Amino acid sequence: MKFLYAALYLLTIPRFSFADDRLSANQTLADGDLLISQSQIFELGFFSPGSSTSRFLGIWYKATPDIVVWVANRENPITGLNGVLTLSETGNLIITSAQGPTIWSSNSSTTASGPVLQLLNSGNLVVGQNSSYIWQSFDHPGDTRLPGMTLMQNIGDGDGKYLTSWKSGDDPSMGELSYRIQNQGLSQTIIAKGKEILNRVVFWNGNFVGYPTSQDPAWRVEVETNKGRLVSVRQPYYDSVHARLTMNYSGFLQRYVMNEEKDGWILMIALPHDLCDGYDVCGSNGICKIYKNPVCECLRGFHPASESEWSVFEWRGGCTRNLSLDCQREEGFLEVKGIKFPDSLNFRLNTNMTNDECRDECLNNCNCTAYADPFFSNGSSCMMWFGDLIDMREYTTESGPAPSIHIRVPISELDNKGKGLSRKTIIVIATVSTLAMLILGVAVWGVFMRIRRKRRGYIKRLDSKMAAEELELPLFDLATIEAATDSFSEQNLIGQGGFGPVYKGNLSVGEVIAVKRMSKISGQGHEEFKTEINLIAKLQHRNLVRILGCCVEGEEKMLIYEYMINRSLDHFIFDQRRRALLNWSKRFEIIMGIARGLLYLHHDSRLNVIHRDLKTSNILLDENLNAKISDFGLARMFEGDQTISTTTRVVGTYGYMAPEYAFDGKFSIKSDIYSLGVMILEIVSGQKNRGFKHPSCYKNLLEQAWHFCKEGRELEMMDPCYKNSYVESQVKRCVQVGSLCIQNVAEERPMMPAVVLMLSTEDAVLPQPRKPGFFLHGDSSFSQSNASGSTGGAVTITDIEAR
Ligand SMILES: *[C@@H]1O[C@H](CO)[C@@H](O)[C@H](O)[C@H]1NC(C)=O
Ligand SMILES: *[C@@H]1O[C@H](CO)[C@@H](O)[C@H](O)[C@H]1NC(C)=O
Ligand SMILES: *[C@@H]1O[C@H](CO)[C@@H](O)[C@H](O)[C@H]1NC(C)=O
Ligand SMILES: *[C@@H]1O[C@H](CO)[C@@H](O)[C@H](O)[C@H]1NC(C)=O
Ligand SMILES: *[C@@H]1O[C@H](CO)[C@@H](O)[C@H](O)[C@H]1NC(C)=O
Ligand SMILES: *[C@@H]1O[C@H](CO)[C@@H](O)[C@H](O)[C@H]1NC(C)=O
Ligand SMILES: *[C@@H]1O[C@H](CO)[C@@H](O)[C@H](O)[C@H]1NC(C)=O
Ligand SMILES: *[C@@H]1O[C@H](CO)[C@@H](O)[C@H](O)[C@H]1NC(C)=O
Repeated sequence: MKFLYAALYLLTIPRFSFADDRLSANQTLADGDLLISQSQIFELGFFSPGSSTSRFLGIWYKATPDIVVWVANRENPITGLNGVLTLSETGNLIITSAQGPTIWSSNSSTTASGPVLQLLNSGNLVVGQNSSYIWQSFDHPGDTRLPGMTLMQNIGDGDGKYLTSWKSGDDPSMGELSYRIQNQGLSQTIIAKGKEILNRVVFWNGNFVGYPTSQDPAWRVEVETNKGRLVSVRQPYYDSVHARLTMNYSGFLQRYVMNEEKDGWILMIALPHDLCDGYDVCGSNGICKIYKNPVCECLRGFHPASESEWSVFEWRGGCTRNLSLDCQREEGFLEVKGIKFPDSLNFRLNTNMTNDECRDECLNNCNCTAYADPFFSNGSSCMMWFGDLIDMREYTTESGPAPSIHIRVPISELDNKGKGLSRKTIIVIATVSTLAMLILGVAVWGVFMRIRRKRRGYIKRLDSKMAAEELELPLFDLATIEAATDSFSEQNLIGQGGFGPVYKGNLSVGEVIAVKRMSKISGQGHEEFKTEINLIAKLQHRNLVRILGCCVEGEEKMLIYEYMINRSLDHFIFDQRRRALLNWSKRFEIIMGIARGLLYLHHDSRLNVIHRDLKTSNILLDENLNAKISDFGLARMFEGDQTISTTTRVVGTYGYMAPEYAFDGKFSIKSDIYSLGVMILEIVSGQKNRGFKHPSCYKNLLEQAWHFCKEGRELEMMDPCYKNSYVESQVKRCVQVGSLCIQNVAEERPMMPAVVLMLSTEDAVLPQPRKPGFFLHGDSSFSQSNASGSTGGAVTITDIEAR
């Protein structure tokens, strides 16, 4: 019946077909007519959302008409198919129903003569002449932010432009949910329901903190600030990128990009993203740690207000102090690193105060509970919190330097009391310790000289008594390393990895070593370095490169590894001549070796290490071509460092990075699994994922693998150099497992125990992989440019390939 009606309607009312993307004065657009942007991306017309029969004037994507990005009369539905949009002579847009009363008007405050209504390629509906507009839809955001549209909020409570959700799928009228900039306290963006905050998304301190950042144009935003506060944010418009940010009516802020076929959408992220994103999940003075179970903890020096509630995971009651603050008692500060700042409910911000002044000021005010330097770029600002600390979470992302905060606690709660000591105590301690140091220094010097005399060779192995205190690893001295590497000469440079260059070295006894000269790790002291090294040195597995020792002198920090005569895997599989040396059985052994090494790192070692930069150039081969993972544990070492100027913070490599890691900075063992999947497919096919060019149809190696898997043509992935010497079932399994590892959704990727099992089990029945999703294309021309005000710069990507 409905269908018949629609058909009749189409037949009986002649459709005004617009050859253009515009409408001029006195022209009308009736229900059924469309205005189409020149790019053929957007359409304007009347529609009915969901199962509703009401009509609304809206803009949607031509290829996906169910995705409506803007609605004119969202509060004033039209019943029946007789709505008409008219552009008045003065440039007012008016929607009427059957020449009846006005249902909606754009209420343009200025008028124009000879106005034109146009749907621009950006999806902006504008009224004006040439490029001066008297009205534009981008000034009236609905639930969707398109590139080019600005969201803004003046400082204080001024007018703002923000996203508001629909009420439901059938009703585009303004729902309770909004996404907006908030400028009370530190600038932040929030998802709110009415006045209640649901999620503080990011805060602004000159950069966005706490949210994925990337140079990718689908993520880039431009901002406007006023006195350090965030006033507006927009995603710049490029005609090649179609992205949208939608506040959906179920409470999620979703960021989508259009797929490359331009007929569907890829969800890049939805916020709130995890339990810890929820506002104040752990109650006051609680901190949410998503990788812990349970996720909520009290800050140190605090305990649950109600143990019984916390024991059933009801955390909202929060935490109270073990010892209440009391200005009479000696108090100090506990530094908590890498957390989301508490919400600025009761705070004071001073932008002209050093850290020490800030600390003293906080200490002198009995009500001050914490302080921090929120603009950690210049260290001269001071934020103080009073009362309870609300909505803290541990940041797990690598999205740039994460804030640290100093929480006020009684001195008895501090391990490292030095941090919170009063000046007087410091002086006393300093005097005493100087004396002690002098005495100790003389003693140590004696011991040191003895050792030096004893040791004539190149390795200084501290005797076990000393080692217990110092290093459990042989310590090389700089002179030895310099001699071995010919003062780090060019000829001895054998690789350039994320964490620094690698040199080959010859010790005088004829032993060959590889020396990794660490790029400077800002803020990491010798002690921390040694602690880390001691941990890493305990990681031993036959598929990991063995660490022989280290060298720490002056500015230099180096790791000494066994030298791998066959260098790295990429020298073989991507080399025209050498690839033939790796036949199938060797490759399969290598894949199994990598998998076992990774299983050990992820699960079997004590440290549960996430590698974070797995790639073929980090897989070294010994004289028997056994695979050994290198650079493990380094990511962990760099991670420990949360201070500012990290010029060499390197976290991944194009082509191997999992999407959630590349865009969201979220890493987990699942991001390593992704990289492993890419490697497996590269080893099988002998093709690089990055820079993959297929003569016909596939965009990259991963997509090709998925297609072949789906169609049971796994064998076509093979490197042609195997000739006939391969085991069909092994090749198939590798392609299938590889494809499972590169699933777009991290949860769908298998864990290492399953990977090893699947690879090694004959006729294992494997799940069918889904289509891999979005990929970083290293050759995107945008990734190199650097617009001011972009959120980029925090995720660093290695684009270096060892040669
Ligand atoms: C629009 O219509 C009004 C009244 O019907 C008429 O006076 C005016 O000339 C028209 N303008 C144009 C640009 O056609
Ligand atoms: C235009 O003005 C009328 C009358 O003041 C008002 O009812 C209506 O909501 C306004 N329309 C818009 C889109 O603001
Ligand atoms: C708009 O631009 C066109 C071409 O640039 C010009 O011919 C026309 O006069 C302009 N119209 C107005 C109203 O400025
Ligand atoms: C530090 O940064 C904040 C915010 O960007 C700014 O307001 C303040 O003036 C800066 N201070 C100095 C000394 O540069
Ligand atoms: C809103 O977004 C969430 C997260 O992506 C999704 O699960 C949910 O289905 C969305 N709701 C609607 C109505 O689109
Ligand atoms: C604080 O109190 C809780 C429980 O009362 C206790 O578990 C915790 O160890 C105390 N913290 C300190 C640092 O004393
Ligand atoms: C910051 O403080 C210093 C010393 O307290 C003072 O000399 C300077 O004028 C202040 N700057 C601003 C911008 O208030
Ligand atoms: C601390 O807070 C109490 C109660 O809120 C108030 O009476 C007192 O004046 C405050 N002290 C300072 C130094 O601000």
